[in-house]
Amino acid sequence: MTGRFPLAAMAIVIGASMGSLPAAAQDKPFALALSCAACHGTDGKSPGSIPTIGGRSAKEIKESLIAFKSGTRPSTVMKRLAEGYTDQDIDALAAYFSKRK
Ligand code: HEC
Repeated sequence: MTGRFPLAAMAIVIGASMGSLPAAAQDKPFALALSCAACHGTDGKSPGSIPTIGGRSAKEIKESLIAFKSGTRPSTVMKRLAEGYTDQDIDALAAYFSKRK
């Protein structure tokens, strides 16, 4: 029985953290943008050497992502990342980050 406790505890933790997410998770652009925040910072404001993307024009962000995806713009990580997003996702991400201040 003791062996089951950690699993049960994890289920509670996961359940609780998901419970706090609904508003954000329903906001698809926000949910997509969360995966960019790890490198580009909250709201696309990078704290380090990775470029800041928040507040750039949607056109510029979109063109960069498409160029990364197709490989016409060289990148270290962005090609692999961009490949995971559809054109609609890219539009949503570009719109989202262009509105960050
Ligand atoms: C693993 C870290 C990482 C993640 C996650 C990440 N990026 Fe990037 N991003 C980079 C790096 C590093 C660059 C510089 C180009 C390169 O080397 O890939 C970059 C460049 C960019 C650029 C071009 C910026 C410029 O100066 O022109 C855009 C736009 C961009 N990323 C958007 C995004 C979006 C949108 C997401 C989320 C879907 C994202 N990135 C997720 C690391 C990351």
